[in-house]
Amino acid sequence: MTSEVNSEQAKWWNAAGEGWANAQDIVDLVLRPLEELLAQKALERPRHRVLDVGCGTGAVTRAIAKALGDAPECVGLDISQTMIAGAAREGNVRFVVADAQTHTFDETFDLVVSRFGVMFFEDPTAAFRNLLRATTPGGELCFITWRTPEENSFMTTAQKAAAPLLPDAPPLDPNGPGPFSLADADNTKKLFEQGGWDGVVIQPVDRVCTMPEKLLVPYLSNLGPIARAIKAADVDERPRIIDDVRGAFDEFVHGDEVRVPAACWQITASAPL
Ligand SMILES: C[S@@+](CC[C@H](N)C(=O)[O-])C[C@H]1O[C@@H](n2cnc3c(N)ncnc32)[C@H](O)[C@@H]1O
Repeated sequence: MTSEVNSEQAKWWNAAGEGWANAQDIVDLVLRPLEELLAQKALERPRHRVLDVGCGTGAVTRAIAKALGDAPECVGLDISQTMIAGAAREGNVRFVVADAQTHTFDETFDLVVSRFGVMFFEDPTAAFRNLLRATTPGGELCFITWRTPEENSFMTTAQKAAAPLLPDAPPLDPNGPGPFSLADADNTKKLFEQGGWDGVVIQPVDRVCTMPEKLLVPYLSNLGPIARAIKAADVDERPRIIDDVRGAFDEFVHGDEVRVPAACWQITASAPL
């Protein structure tokens, strides 16, 4: 069930889900360093049940299930029906379509993780409080989020390249739901504390994410603002658009490899006993 609260985001991510599902293998490859970080976190202690918030097509959910073996159940939750429809079911995983901000959980988790799935809430404090309700006392949270746009130039390059092609798109509101909404660490710490979490620690994490150069165009064509621009254009126009925007990414191409520096926060906290 999805709620009315985050209905704009639900619409947005349902529209994006098809591209994410098409490019699932590429996303999983590019973001693997951050998936590994969360799988390592899961291995730090025995776990009974793990929740992956805003799981998208479920790479992190599956990776944690694989790392932990059969016993713990790993649940991936996402507001987007199309993302979950594209999520491969492997290992001891279960997927739920729901809004993490409002969903009534009928079970608790001793670890709650997310890779880039918690920056889109209309009311982040309410969402983090709801996730606390879903966490066993003493349980932990570990979220990966983006730092500032200035530190994440691959994403801003995509925004800039797509902007002239999407003249009607509303400007990004840095304070509203969006990829950079938790970029201000001091403010983010307060949001988690107001949500009732203990021991909130926010640390920078830097990784270089890579993919073969031949996957760059399929990546751009399926994900993010360039995919939206392509979808909005006439079919005949699409190859020209791809050619035009591809050049903007030359600085990230090193021989036959694309290198994307990812400047992130790792947010950890625990549920009061
Ligand atoms: C950038 S994608 C990340 C997907 C996935 N975690 C990954 O790393 O591949 C953000 C995800 O958050 C989900 N999302 C946004 N708002 C949400 C909400 N209120 N409740 C649950 N999921 C949400 C979106 O549908 C989307 O799948």
